[in-house]
Amino acid sequence: QADLRSQMLEINKQAAKYYYYQLKSERGQIAYEYLRNRELSDETIIKFGLGYSNKFSDDLYKYLKGLGYSDGILKESGLITMDEKKGSYDKFWNRVMYPIMDVNNRVIGFGGRVMGDGMPKYLNSPETKLFDKSRNLYGLNLARLSRKPNMLICEGYMDVIALHQAGFDNAVASLGTAFTGLQANLLKRYTHEVLVTYDSDEAGIKAALRAIPILKEAGLTAKVINMRPYKDPDEFIKALGREEFQKRIDEAENSFYYEISIMERDYDLNDPEQKTKFFNEIAKKMLVFTEEIERNNYIEAVAKRYKIEYDNLRKLVNRYGAQL
Ligand code: CTP
Ligand code: MN
Ligand code: MN
Ligand code: MN
Ligand code: MN
Repeated sequence: QADLRSQMLEINKQAAKYYYYQLKSERGQIAYEYLRNRELSDETIIKFGLGYSNKFSDDLYKYLKGLGYSDGILKESGLITMDEKKGSYDKFWNRVMYPIMDVNNRVIGFGGRVMGDGMPKYLNSPETKLFDKSRNLYGLNLARLSRKPNMLICEGYMDVIALHQAGFDNAVASLGTAFTGLQANLLKRYTHEVLVTYDSDEAGIKAALRAIPILKEAGLTAKVINMRPYKDPDEFIKALGREEFQKRIDEAENSFYYEISIMERDYDLNDPEQKTKFFNEIAKKMLVFTEEIERNNYIEAVAKRYKIEYDNLRKLVNRYGAQL
C-alpha cells in the first residue's frame, strides 16, 4: 500500500516533468504563449511547475511505459485512461497543465486548461488514493511559508498564480469545489485569519456565504475582499495592479457585515414591512455571538449602519435569544 502510494507520487512527478519539458519544446510554444499572454513570467511558470500536454493522444502513456510502469498503476494514477476497444490514452490532451501539490511539495494531481473556449474549461485529475480534493488547497505548499498575517482563499489556479506573482504569497485556492471543514482545519495550522477572495459573480458570492460559517466553525476569523468591478483576483490585478489589491485587503469586510449586506439585497428597505423582516433576520443571526460584549458591539454597529435605535434592535435580539 505504502509502495503503491510512493509509486503513484513518482508517476505524478515524472508526468509533471514531462509536461514542463513539453511546454519548453517547439510543440509547446502555443501553450507557452498562452501563459505569456496571461502575463505570467518565466519565474512564475517555473515556480508553479506549469506545463503542456501535447496533441498526441498517447504520448505520456508511451513515455511512462518506457519508464517501466505497469498498465495497472498507470490507470490508478488517473493520468491514463484504459479502454478495451480504444486502448490506452492520455487523459489530458492539448491543455496547459497545472500540477497540484500537497503541503510537502509532492504532486498529487493535475488541472488542465483549454487554451481557447473549449469545454470543459478545466479538466482535473480524478480523485485517487493520493488526491482528495476536499483535504488539499492549491498553493498551500507555497503560502504556508508566507510571512503575512493571514491567508487569501480564492477560487482558481490563475488567481493563486497571479496573486503570488504580484507578491501576495499567502494565496491558496479551493479549486472550484465547495470549501470544506478539512480545508479550514488545514489553514488553521498556518493562520488565524482568512480573507475570502472569491469571484464577484453570483457563484462566487454563494461560495463565500458557504465558506464563512465553515471558517468560523474552525475558529478562524473570516473577512471578505471585494473584487468588483472585476471578476476575480487575476483580472483585478491585471487591471489595477498590486497597490490597489492591497487596498482591497486593507478594506476587507467583516464577514458578518458581508452576510447581512448580501441578505439586504432581498429586502426593499423603503417598505416598512420588509424592513421589519430584514431586522428580524439580522436579530436572529446575531445569536451566533454568544459573548455579550461581542453581541452588543454588533448590535451597536448594525444600528448605526442602518440608522435605527440601538435599544430597539437590542430588544429584538433579546427576544429571539429568550426563545432558545
Ligand atoms: N473549475 C474546474 N472545472 C471547470 C471550471 C472551473 O475545475 N470546468 C475550477 C478551476 O480550479 C478553476 C476554478 O474552478 O480555476 C474557478 O473557476 P472559474 O472562475 O470559472 O475559472 P477561472 O479560475 O477564473 O479560470 P480562468 O481565469 O483560467 O478563465
Ligand atoms: Mn466557476
Ligand atoms: Mn468563478
Ligand atoms: Mn479567471
Ligand atoms: Mn474566476
